[in-house]
Amino acid sequence: MTKDYIWWKDATVYQIWPASYKDSNGDGVGDIPGIISTLDYVKSLGTDVIWLSPMYDSPQDDMGYDISNYEKVYPKYGTLEDMDKLIEGTHKRGMKLILDLVINHTSTEHDWFKQSRSSKTDPKRDWYIWKPARYDAEGNRHPPNNWVSHFSGSAWAYDETTDEYYLHLFAESQPDLNWENEETRKAIYKSALSFWFEKGIDGFRIDTAGMYSKVQSFPDAPIVFPDSEWQPCQKYFQNGPRIHEFHKEMFASVTSKYDTMTVGEVGHSPREDSLKYVSAKEKEMNMMFLFDAVEVGSNPSDRFIYDGYKLTDFKNAVQNQSSFIEGTDAWSTVFYENHDQPRSITRFGNDSTKYRVKSGKLLALLQSTLSGTLYIYQGQEIGMTNLPRSWSIDEYLDINTINYYKEFKAKYGDNKEKMDKLMDNITLLARDHARSPVQWDDSENAGFSTGKPWMRVNDNYKEINVASQVTDPNSLFSFWKQSLKIRKEYKDLLIYGSFKILDKENQKIFTYVKEAAGQRAYIVLNFTSESLKFENLDGGKLELVHSNVNVEDESTLSPYEGRFYLIK
Ligand code: NOJ
Repeated sequence: MTKDYIWWKDATVYQIWPASYKDSNGDGVGDIPGIISTLDYVKSLGTDVIWLSPMYDSPQDDMGYDISNYEKVYPKYGTLEDMDKLIEGTHKRGMKLILDLVINHTSTEHDWFKQSRSSKTDPKRDWYIWKPARYDAEGNRHPPNNWVSHFSGSAWAYDETTDEYYLHLFAESQPDLNWENEETRKAIYKSALSFWFEKGIDGFRIDTAGMYSKVQSFPDAPIVFPDSEWQPCQKYFQNGPRIHEFHKEMFASVTSKYDTMTVGEVGHSPREDSLKYVSAKEKEMNMMFLFDAVEVGSNPSDRFIYDGYKLTDFKNAVQNQSSFIEGTDAWSTVFYENHDQPRSITRFGNDSTKYRVKSGKLLALLQSTLSGTLYIYQGQEIGMTNLPRSWSIDEYLDINTINYYKEFKAKYGDNKEKMDKLMDNITLLARDHARSPVQWDDSENAGFSTGKPWMRVNDNYKEINVASQVTDPNSLFSFWKQSLKIRKEYKDLLIYGSFKILDKENQKIFTYVKEAAGQRAYIVLNFTSESLKFENLDGGKLELVHSNVNVEDESTLSPYEGRFYLIK
């Protein structure tokens, strides 16, 4: 196990999703001055790096992941001067700031695309992926192949101006850039990366980092969903033929010039394929997100097809993430929430009034004792939960949820059972759960905005909010703060140590040992609402370091109790 301490390995990262974080001017939308006003709060939690989700100019069809200008800020979020102040304020507090790098696609509103679509001979025509239509025997026009978009429907959109289709793996307004074109790549590096590095940012979270290189024959994908016209096509764009060449080029020509951190959102791949992006010797990126844990129980091609999971499935996912760095020169990440995931207490803990805080602390104990760079998403530190089941679909605003719901309803609208089941799954898994406004206090709109919030505030803001937790030593916020401090105190063990599960088959308790240079930690977590017998599975002498209860009776694990011992 490596011992070269590097700031981005030791770091705890706090993700801010600007629209819902903090509104400073009462227009109902979060903004950069709002973020600046909370920097001391973020620092007080014990985090070191802020990852700011897209704040670039954008029509916001996919909440900023559809960028119309990399070098401008979305006016509702603020200005370039506000960004300078944010960079300065972050650095002044000894923290770093990383941005989201969205370069698989732009918005259709980006000038590059506007030029590209204007004519077949425009110099930027080849900056995006254009193909002619296919026609059937009856002369009906069809897209060039059967690929499905991540946001439902065909991955191709027809453009009348030139009578051709362009590829969009996400929304119709998110055309994929053509990475085969060297001039395009250079323009991306200059506008999306260098511009911001020169302003002083400290790195990037790299969006959809495994998707830039497409199989150039663009073949039809095999039929996986026979009742649909459009099929999953990952194998033709995920880890494509030239992807590592592109990342190496980006690193060598831009990223390597700065003291940065990069974390890729690469998607699902076998371990060997994933390692190619993050192995230090490959010089591509520092680390990537592994989705094993957050997607447990869901179909990887369709998040709303959900069958539930057992604790042993979850353990396997944690094992995969943890063993990713063992015997390799790569680095890993720990995360259970982000802007694309539901709230972790609802998903993996218990969000009832009785166990919400305690199970939240259990999850904090889990995350703060796993190796890799740790990521916390806004509101996670106070235990924000999913939106209630009683809310109708009209409260959901995410393009992913809306498109899916519409398509599903068109097929199964008459089937009450199926529609109810879909609503159950949306209530558990939709991205919208992470996107409701942060609950700052118990005043109107949860202190997020003095205006009408762009998205409805979760009903439980009077019980769950920052103001009531920062001063309470028993709050979830205080527990996170303490856990992050302990993580740094025992960093060899907790951030860099090896990981071994002791009770692989147990469906109620999760016990593991962390080990580093002669030190060993024993972590035991009761994932149920039952009291269970505690057994020392190691046999060594256990010395309690941290727990989410005052451990009085060592022989019993109360519901959702967790303990971190040193083995002496
Ligand atoms: C992944 C981002 O996390 C997600 O929010 C976005 O919709 C897609 N990439 C498209 O950029």
